[in-house]
Amino acid sequence: MDRHGTAAVTAWWRSAVIYQVYPRSFADGNGDGTGDLAGATARLGHLADLGVDAVWLSPFYRSPMVDSGYDVADYRDVDPRFGTLDDFDALLAEAHRLGLRVIVDLVPNHSSSAHPWFVEALASPRGSAPRDRYVFRPGRGRDGELPPNDWESVFGGAAWTRVPDGDWYLHLFDAGQPDFNWNDGEVRAEFEAILRFWLDRGVDGFRIDVAHGMVKADGLPDVGVTGQSELIGRGRLPYFDQDGVHEIYREWRKLLDSYPGERIGVAEAWTSGPERTARYVAPDELHQAFNFDFLQAPWSAAAMRDVIDACLAASARYGATTTWVLSNHDVQRHVTRYGGGAAGVRRARAAILLMLALPGSAYVYQGEELGLPEVLDLPDEARQDPQWIRSAGGQPSRDGCRVPMPWSGDAPPFGFSPPGSPAPWLPMPASWAQLTVERQLADPASMLALYRRALRLRRTHPALGAGAPDPAVLTWLDAPDGVVAFGRRPGLTCTVNCSSTPVTLPGYGEPLLASAPVAGRVLPPDTAVWWSAP
Ligand code: GLC
Repeated sequence: MDRHGTAAVTAWWRSAVIYQVYPRSFADGNGDGTGDLAGATARLGHLADLGVDAVWLSPFYRSPMVDSGYDVADYRDVDPRFGTLDDFDALLAEAHRLGLRVIVDLVPNHSSSAHPWFVEALASPRGSAPRDRYVFRPGRGRDGELPPNDWESVFGGAAWTRVPDGDWYLHLFDAGQPDFNWNDGEVRAEFEAILRFWLDRGVDGFRIDVAHGMVKADGLPDVGVTGQSELIGRGRLPYFDQDGVHEIYREWRKLLDSYPGERIGVAEAWTSGPERTARYVAPDELHQAFNFDFLQAPWSAAAMRDVIDACLAASARYGATTTWVLSNHDVQRHVTRYGGGAAGVRRARAAILLMLALPGSAYVYQGEELGLPEVLDLPDEARQDPQWIRSAGGQPSRDGCRVPMPWSGDAPPFGFSPPGSPAPWLPMPASWAQLTVERQLADPASMLALYRRALRLRRTHPALGAGAPDPAVLTWLDAPDGVVAFGRRPGLTCTVNCSSTPVTLPGYGEPLLASAPVAGRVLPPDTAVWWSAP
């Protein structure tokens, strides 16, 4: 029993596999070409059968959808495109019935410009309290015609937009996403109330959007260089990863802990490296932080090993586990990132065995279990990503990883929408007939079959999952060049050949699971094997 006297403390998140549902593209229940909560509820069986522990839902709140729902106009309601609060409650109940926990996305760095607070701010005078909930400043130059500083939007262009009375407001993303002022007590109180709203409804946690963003450096100093988005994940910027954000998470942790049932927070924090990321998982802060260094590592044994070592060491310093991720709705799908075509698929098969053998928790992005590639040839008029639109095509479009899921049948929309519905919001490639859930369930050699086997084994094998919060939970083994090899106690060795030549291994017992056929001790190129001996 825990201190609430309800359930035993399991620290479930330390080894959980969490599946990201992007509601717009997962399943369309009402037949309008856009995914929704009712559609997702009807497909939760797919996740239970896959063998994941929890679901993270990307935003489904009221939103003008300038940034696919990451522009929230009402934090306490479901957008009519996605359904109603009743639909949400039904999804939560069904997920819990199936043994799946549910994490929702919280977007605290900015609201939509359609949020009542921003509408009120615009209608209020300069320097007034409603304006102080956001970041309004006078401009520079003789008539204030220049932005207050040189900050750039992550989506391209200046991070400031001028309003008719001459003030400028800050938006680190689209102009339709004004940044909140987190020095304002009302903003802090409002978000605590929003957390409580969803916790009271029964959610198991929050994925915190732009968790590195809310606090800005005092005085909003210039960066001094252009091309600032290039620095994200590499250097420090006065608007990201400021130490002040941690104070917010210490408060939120107390709030989460005041609820029974181990509710968690996971940080989407793009920082300059594993050490900075690990600060978000200090024992009195959040439970998880996505490990983007792993996601960004190239398909190379040396690079993978370095990044795994650095991440394990950094999180162990805080007694936390690492949270591995290969794909999400913001990055090119890893089949394509690892080279695309047959090689990309082969590497993606090996990569999932690597990821699921590592100590800690792991995230799976919808469709990666089908081996979906990035859709690179979407027609320009179909693309909706503000990152692509604001940069006039200069930055990659994230639409290609957001194409709806193919479930069944031989032609688009592949069961995504009911028969007779309008076309899905993004066109689906005809070639995905080969990749539907239905097709892959019938094929023991499919990507889906591999994910299901790996996840099942991960649940039952004592060496897989979190392990102790200690880098020694994984032991590196001597391996030929191009091969990642490590042991997990008791009784598991993972070997991954990232090179293009077959290698002969010393012998680690029997193969438990392989990403491609293996004969004897020879590990083919771009192949991973879990073996039975340490
Ligand atoms: C996060 C989201 C991304 C969104 C951005 C702004 O990075 O994952 O999709 O565009 O925040 O909210």
